[in-house]
Amino acid sequence: MDHFVINGGSRLCGRLTVKGSKNATLPLMAAALLTDRPVMLQDVPDLADIRNMVGLLSELGCKVDFSPATSLDAAGGTMLLHATDESQSHARYEIVRTMRASICALGPMLAKRGFARISMPGGCAIGDRPVDLHLRGLAALGAEIQLHQGDIVARVPGGKGGRLRGARIFLGGPSGSTVLGTANVMSAAALAEGQTIIESAACEPEVVDVAKLLNAMGARIRGAGSPRIIIDGVESLGGAEHRVIPDRIEAGTYMCASAMTNGDITLDNCPMDALMAASDAFERIGLIVAPETGPAAAGRDPMRQTVRVTSARALSPVELTTQPHPGFPTDLQAQIMALLCLADGNSIITERIYPERFLHVAELSRMGAKIVRQGSTAVITGVRKLVGAPVMASDLRASACLVLAGLAAEGTTIVNRVYHLDRGYEQMEERLRALGASIERVREKQAAPAGETVAV
Ligand code: EPU
Repeated sequence: MDHFVINGGSRLCGRLTVKGSKNATLPLMAAALLTDRPVMLQDVPDLADIRNMVGLLSELGCKVDFSPATSLDAAGGTMLLHATDESQSHARYEIVRTMRASICALGPMLAKRGFARISMPGGCAIGDRPVDLHLRGLAALGAEIQLHQGDIVARVPGGKGGRLRGARIFLGGPSGSTVLGTANVMSAAALAEGQTIIESAACEPEVVDVAKLLNAMGARIRGAGSPRIIIDGVESLGGAEHRVIPDRIEAGTYMCASAMTNGDITLDNCPMDALMAASDAFERIGLIVAPETGPAAAGRDPMRQTVRVTSARALSPVELTTQPHPGFPTDLQAQIMALLCLADGNSIITERIYPERFLHVAELSRMGAKIVRQGSTAVITGVRKLVGAPVMASDLRASACLVLAGLAAEGTTIVNRVYHLDRGYEQMEERLRALGASIERVREKQAAPAGETVAV
């Protein structure tokens, strides 16, 4: 298990290209199971989770040819997916337990093959994370679903050649909608007979990106990005080429890094349109997030902007609550908490998506942070400085938060278990070093603990 050694205090300055979105790429890859024609994805990030998904799809009869980006400045690599063999439709426990997002193969496989068997994902470090809404949605489309020895076994009545039936489906749950559940049901409904209306659909930009690919494959989907998605089912889908949206969480993480080191960084390929709540919070804290203006910026896609991030010397405290999109994203909660540790006063963060997603609090406290947690709320009292310490990463975003704290802290921080980080941040240490950080990866022989469900 590798660890990072960070000597804090360096100002981050320079330029960075935001990589393609991990959480869009995973369901986009699964969508290739909906067709027997090739699907080409551009800007695919090279991450542990993406490689796990390659492994899963290969087992499910989909050939995957991935050429990762060769330069730090590229937004990602190219991936060609081609589902050629439908005889193996079982996503085994050994794979699913390493990556919960395997569940996004369920809808596509079921709709195209009439059958899917997929190990039921367990909880992970950030919460229980049920999949009941995915199953309810697919059942409403007519799927017969049973649990057998820990596997979800789903069938279309009539088997191969049979079709799901369009339906009106409500996908709201106790914490809002479900992102991968919406992608699953929308993908399955694309091949259903008749019209499907998903009410309380997730509005996340990753859902919009999946709808965009599906439409390029011949689907008829309207309303993605709003709480009501209307899908007119078609008989078959073809191949397509698609460029993955940039990763809003990666962008937000580097914005925090800039502010925590009093830095000055410019992000290219930055999805500002998907970062409204985050940039609102950043501006209240004292960051200056300035999209490029002038002739070069005219007509630029709001999802692919160039922005310069600087900050006021004194950071202000804020109150914020994580919410489904377009609210403040849970996947940036840990990183903004690290930033607020350095604000001038008391901040309050309430976590509404995963009320237990606070494993980073105890580790930040080891670095001198003052945080009191009560249930799903944390009160952060800003301190003058954080101090380096050995800390333990527990999940992807908590790891990023500890790296940020280490960059700002006085002295040396050792972040253990960075395999969590490798799931969602491509070459983070090299990219931070290119911006002026003092950060090294120390490689160790021992692998990540076998079978631990660490996935996002
Ligand atoms: N939920 C249910 N029932 C369901 C599904 C979800 O109650 O059937 C609840 C969850 O327990 C949670 C909330 O609904 O409280 C939202 O869960 P959602 O299904 O939207 O999460 P997800 O689709 O499994 C994706 C991202 C997560 C991100 C969440 C929320 C991927 C691969 N993962 O998960 O990303 O936190 O949406 O935005 O897209 C990360 O990148 O660090 C990460 C955890």
